[in-house]
Amino acid sequence: MKYEEIIKEIETRIADGSLMPGERLPSVRALSKELQCSINSILKAYTELEKEHKVYVVPKSGYFLVGTSSKQQSQPSGLIDFSSAGPDRSKMPYRDYQHCMNQAIDLYKEKMFQYSEPLGLLSLRHQLSRQLQDLQVFADPARIAVVTGSQQALDLLVSLPFPNGKKEICVEQPTHFSFIDSITSRGLPFAGIEMTDQGINLDHLEEMFSNRSIKCFYTVSRFQNPTGYCYSNEEKKRMVELAQMYDVYIIEDDYMGDLDTRRKADPMFAYDPSGRVIYTKSFSKVLLPGLRLGTAVLPETMIEDFTKAKFAADVHTPVLTQGALEIYLESGMYHTHIQQLRQQYKRKGMILKQACLDYLPKGTTFSGAESGFYSTIKLPGRMKAKFLADHLKKKNVLVQDATDMYLPPYKKENLIRISVSQVEDQHIGEGVRKIGEGIEELLGKTVYFM
Ligand SMILES: Cc1ncc(COP(=O)(O)O)c(C=O)c1O
Repeated sequence: MKYEEIIKEIETRIADGSLMPGERLPSVRALSKELQCSINSILKAYTELEKEHKVYVVPKSGYFLVGTSSKQQSQPSGLIDFSSAGPDRSKMPYRDYQHCMNQAIDLYKEKMFQYSEPLGLLSLRHQLSRQLQDLQVFADPARIAVVTGSQQALDLLVSLPFPNGKKEICVEQPTHFSFIDSITSRGLPFAGIEMTDQGINLDHLEEMFSNRSIKCFYTVSRFQNPTGYCYSNEEKKRMVELAQMYDVYIIEDDYMGDLDTRRKADPMFAYDPSGRVIYTKSFSKVLLPGLRLGTAVLPETMIEDFTKAKFAADVHTPVLTQGALEIYLESGMYHTHIQQLRQQYKRKGMILKQACLDYLPKGTTFSGAESGFYSTIKLPGRMKAKFLADHLKKKNVLVQDATDMYLPPYKKENLIRISVSQVEDQHIGEGVRKIGEGIEELLGKTVYFM
């Protein structure tokens, strides 16, 4: 029996459950006897399985099967889930990333498992500095921090003192709920500015900057969560001018900047790279959210305070995933992956937009459908999003009530957020049709209104 056949035999035993995760494989001698083949063939098969990380060796004990016994969770059939915020599962490059993790261990050895720098591996920060140039973000590695998800950078920044000595945080309303939690859980002073399918009112923003003690303006400059809105270059330029004029800092959350297919679109950072714009970027939506990897470009004057806060929060981001990210970026895997994602999300966005035009009833408006990730549907009259979400659940369609994406004084209850990232192309239309149907059904019943 050849070693390839032995591997097949082991795989069959795994598939039929006669070998369970964590269980010891038959000893080399016992299996060679059972399959009537040489010890060398068994050893070769086990070594190959080890290379593929299917088994591991415990010296003097034998070979064991890798994995846990928990089964992969699959979506119930017929469910159309517009509520999930993660990237398309079928496009998650975890195998490539696994290779990068192995490479990182081979290359950096025990360094991958030691304490490290609070702001991240210097070699990765150099790599990020090069990578960010593709997004028109030119920054020295000394100003770049690796963070445990971009949410960590946002969460640390809100409570730091800013060089302008001001106090309030200005924030688009609605915005993504973890940022709301960062503010409210610490009782920080805030000022909300309404975000619609037309963006924000820049005169109103100027009024706020000039009349209030705004330390920073938090903005998601493209593919805003939840509206999907992308600011034009002119709007971004004007916001940066206002920030300079009234000594306000901008926290620009460019969590999905990589997905922008508009060739000339700049981040706000490009209009003032001096430190006035603090830039954050996530690797969650475009890579693997469970890695918890993000980055921030800081003003020089805030690096010391940020480093202390980062150290206090978690000492540093896990080193192994950082080492792997460096290899993933440097090898060009990231670049190739992003090219594919851009096309995919663009296509989903176009399907969604057409479906919204086709199926949403009169009086219902939508925003950001072409973003391919997040968009919102504003319900007619004063229909409550919560009721619609409950009603759609019964039809096997999940949507997110956006009420918690507002700070308390600005709350609106007639907005749902939908994300097409995890919905297959062929189910988008059907899902939106059911949403339209659901809205029509509630329209006649006043109990579902505010
Ligand atoms: C607008 C926005 N910024 C930041 C984040 C946080 O991303 P990360 O997973 O990198 O912490 C999210 C997550 O959904 C988000 O929607």
